[in-house]
Amino acid sequence: MNKMAAEFAQALSRELPTNPKVGEALHWGSRVLAASGSETPRLDAELLLGYVLGLSRSQLYVHWEEPLSPKKLQHYQELVQRRAQHEPVAYLVKSRAFYDVELYVDARVLIPRPETEHLIEEALAWAQQHPGYIRQIADVGTGSGALAIVLARHLPQAHVWAVDLSAQALSVAARNIARYQLETQITLIQGDLLTAFRGTFQLIVANLPYIDHTELSHLPPEVATYEPRLALNGGQEGLEILARFLPQAAECLAAHGLLLLEIDPRQAAQVCKLARASFPKANITLLRDYAGWERVVRIAHEG
Ligand SMILES: C[S@@+](CC[C@H](N)C(=O)[O-])C[C@H]1O[C@@H](n2cnc3c(N)ncnc32)[C@H](O)[C@@H]1O
Repeated sequence: MNKMAAEFAQALSRELPTNPKVGEALHWGSRVLAASGSETPRLDAELLLGYVLGLSRSQLYVHWEEPLSPKKLQHYQELVQRRAQHEPVAYLVKSRAFYDVELYVDARVLIPRPETEHLIEEALAWAQQHPGYIRQIADVGTGSGALAIVLARHLPQAHVWAVDLSAQALSVAARNIARYQLETQITLIQGDLLTAFRGTFQLIVANLPYIDHTELSHLPPEVATYEPRLALNGGQEGLEILARFLPQAAECLAAHGLLLLEIDPRQAAQVCKLARASFPKANITLLRDYAGWERVVRIAHEG
């Protein structure tokens, strides 16, 4: 047994007091998760305990001295153990914040990432400069529905077509769409990229799988073991899906429309080359995320 595993086993077996209080349970969970290698053990423990007790993180401190019922304690211990085996917190608490919404998530969908919010920021800034222009939007590879839902809420005059190959992902998206009562504004389509469409979109957003298939097994266990392969696997060099998608998008983008594509920064040059082949006259730029990485390809179709 290596040192970390030994520390973990020791921390896990360390007895909690018989009727632990909120504060004691939090300390225990933090210790177990630190020993399991979590980079954010305290935060994880707070989120898990808050979920079990129906309290926010700050409310935990108000209830610090209150005992946990045996049932709640058992539930919390189970979640801590699952987290210690690298199951993502978002799947355990079945929720993830994205831009200005809270989404239901489980292992059927990718957990929406903060960097994907750049697509939203850019789309909304562009929409503001072109008031009333956007009537049809496509979100390709919608997953939990994150992009479709935020865009629909901010652009109520537009209809959003949210596409995914995975029927399971679409069930999760449907749940989130119902939560925000957007059923009439968002249509879910099960399909392969844009093959189901002949229509014209003023805005297309896509966060499609872009991880090189040879890198999948080297991802952190949180991702490799728990997130859906279909949401990650971009095939050879991570470019197979994007290479199929770009010519389709060129057929579907309106004369003065905008396409925003999330990429792996390491692929920026290659994706720009593919984009140039499909959009020879477009204005193609790379946008950086807050860490300074080229994260979004912006294609403004000039006709
Ligand atoms: C990286 S995830 C992004 C999910 C969501 N848009 C987000 O940003 O959180 C990619 C999504 O594309 C879907 N997908 C993969 N291949 C596809 C294809 N050929 N056509 C449509 N969707 C596809 C996956 O099922 C997955 O939901």
